[in-house]
Amino acid sequence: MIRHNLRRARNIHGQALSITRQDRERLNDHTGKVIWLTGLSGSGKSTLANALEQELHTQGKRTYLLDGDNIRQGLNKDLAFTDADRVENIRRIAEVAKLMMDAGLIVMTAFISPFRQEREMARQLIGTENFIEVFVDTPLEVCEQRDPKGLYKKARNGEIPNMTGINSPYEAPTSPDIRFTPSSSVREILGYFDD
Ligand code: ADX
Repeated sequence: MIRHNLRRARNIHGQALSITRQDRERLNDHTGKVIWLTGLSGSGKSTLANALEQELHTQGKRTYLLDGDNIRQGLNKDLAFTDADRVENIRRIAEVAKLMMDAGLIVMTAFISPFRQEREMARQLIGTENFIEVFVDTPLEVCEQRDPKGLYKKARNGEIPNMTGINSPYEAPTSPDIRFTPSSSVREILGYFDD
């Protein structure tokens, strides 16, 4: 769906660096990871990621939270909500999350990330052993009832053309590492960080 060739520069060679991910992880006293949250708008991704980061930070872990609404005001402000732009949004986030993990951080990403293929691309890029997919499984009816930004109402009124769950698809994960429902607790995820 991306119309230009992504690899346009030539004569690029990888540069060997002295300090490795393992060196950084040793200083941090924990490994880097990516916790990839996916779910509808209003499902609670940001709230959950925030609670998770607070808890890990309190435990002395080095973390960073990449959140859709924030990243779309900076790095990805050139992207809208067509399928192609969402694919590019997730590609960039996967690359940034990988870099941050290489820096030794526990990275949380809170993006709708509606397409199974892009989430799989992220998993492959980041490495299955480093990647924890969390499906924030809040039913559309509940998200629509919450409607914290009034987007569902606007979409129902025909004012938003590509609203996920209304007139743009959401492909739910079939086997996420963690399924987080409105009755789940943050503790269930923390078990992954006991190393
Ligand atoms: S994604 O589909 O490309 O992963 P992302 O998580 O970055 O989406 O951005 C979603 C946020 O953008 C939502 O939380 C919502 O606040 C806002 N938004 C604006 N327009 C739309 C839309 N058409 N569909 C979904 N979210 C939208």
